Amino acid sequence: MNKDLKPKIVLVTGGAGFIGSNFIRYELKNNKNAVIINLDKLTYAGNLQNLKDVEKEYGLSSGDENPRYFFIKGDICDRNLVKSIFSGKYFKKKGIGRGTHDSRLTTPDAVINFAAETHVDRSILSSEPFIDTNIKGTQTLLEAARIHWQTQNSEPETRNRFIHISTDEVYGSLGKKGKFTEVSPLSPNSPYSASKAAADLLCRSYYKTYSLPVTITRSSNNYGPYQFPEKLIPLIIKNAIEGKKLPVYGDGANVRDWLYVEDNCRAIDLVLRKAEPGEIYNIGGENEIENIKTVKLICKTLKNSTSDGSEPEKLIQFIADPRGEAHDFRYALDCSKIKEKLGWKPTLEFREGLKKTIDWYLKNQDWIKKVISGDYLKYYNRIYK
Ligand code: NAD
Ligand code: TYD
Repeated sequence: MNKDLKPKIVLVTGGAGFIGSNFIRYELKNNKNAVIINLDKLTYAGNLQNLKDVEKEYGLSSGDENPRYFFIKGDICDRNLVKSIFSGKYFKKKGIGRGTHDSRLTTPDAVINFAAETHVDRSILSSEPFIDTNIKGTQTLLEAARIHWQTQNSEPETRNRFIHISTDEVYGSLGKKGKFTEVSPLSPNSPYSASKAAADLLCRSYYKTYSLPVTITRSSNNYGPYQFPEKLIPLIIKNAIEGKKLPVYGDGANVRDWLYVEDNCRAIDLVLRKAEPGEIYNIGGENEIENIKTVKLICKTLKNSTSDGSEPEKLIQFIADPRGEAHDFRYALDCSKIKEKLGWKPTLEFREGLKKTIDWYLKNQDWIKKVISGDYLKYYNRIYK
């Protein structure tokens, strides 16, 4: 295991999305040295509502002379913008890093690349944004890091790190048995997973060719607060609260392995501080469950939480699978590597995590209203016609 690195300035991309916003909150709380720059394009999935508390506590308006959180609205495909962040020119131009702010804010010494188009169903409707952000955007970041870090002479304890956030979906689909390890072949089935696999290979090539210190994490399906209500768990919770149909694709027998988002954030933080460059780490929840059982569990938990006499299970509706034959049957990860090398394991059992998540959505119904835009409604009506 590496000596604990303490990156000071961490460029988080896609930090206004689900996992990114949870990670920023986790990192600012647990790594007191960290200054976070959040670069996000604010697509339909990115929302500054997810970071209101962070902005207030750690941002420019926090009253702190040395704020630890900065937001930049921008695209990871924008080469000039990305280069100017790496060179420090972006902050000089804005006057940040001088005057009251200390001179720490110059250029990122670590990158965590969460930014992506992430929904399989959208990738089937239109793959282009997936190719742009997931592949070209990753290449833009890798290239800027290569150019700027190679010319730097960083202190050992702040050595540079490029953490690329990938997914178990790059391995393709499993039958009823078996698990993917980090050396399983890449066999993606959707435009989303293919674009993520392509980015993983680019990351590998930058490590092999230029010795760029890239590490990849591949996690299973995350769930928890701030997840956009197009993915299974938040969509079912939202619809059940609103008394709408609960759409289950096909016969609901597909299996997913659910990981509570904070467990993933803890794993990513460990990877940032302790992992070797060039390595890949699987991060799984060890909570494998069929979709229909997940949906029924949400219904039962909601019924117990609200006790308003509603029967959400009656709202379940099996619908023709919009993914057809390309719908991956099952994902499951062998996580022995991260357990042995970094001492990580998932802590939250699925029922417990689901209860926490449902409670959060019940308390934050305003959040749901705010994040749903016209784009969401258009998409929803197209998929669930
Ligand atoms: P999300 O869809 O909630 O958020 C994605 C964020 O990226 C949004 O804030 C969006 O505005 C931003 N973004 C999109 N395109 C951008 C661009 N061109 N430039 C800058 N920002 C851009 O995604 P998520 O669920 O938080 O996933 C984060 C990462 O984790 C992704 O790389 C995804 O592939 C990976 N992942 C997610 C899961 C999961 O279950 N959610 C599981 C495994 C891996
Ligand atoms: P999703 O949350 O989109 O994640 P992924 O496809 O990346 O694993 O879907 C999880 C599972 O739930 C997947 O097997 C598809 C299924 N699903 C439904 O049955 N109904 C839905 O409305 C959605 C969004 C997903």
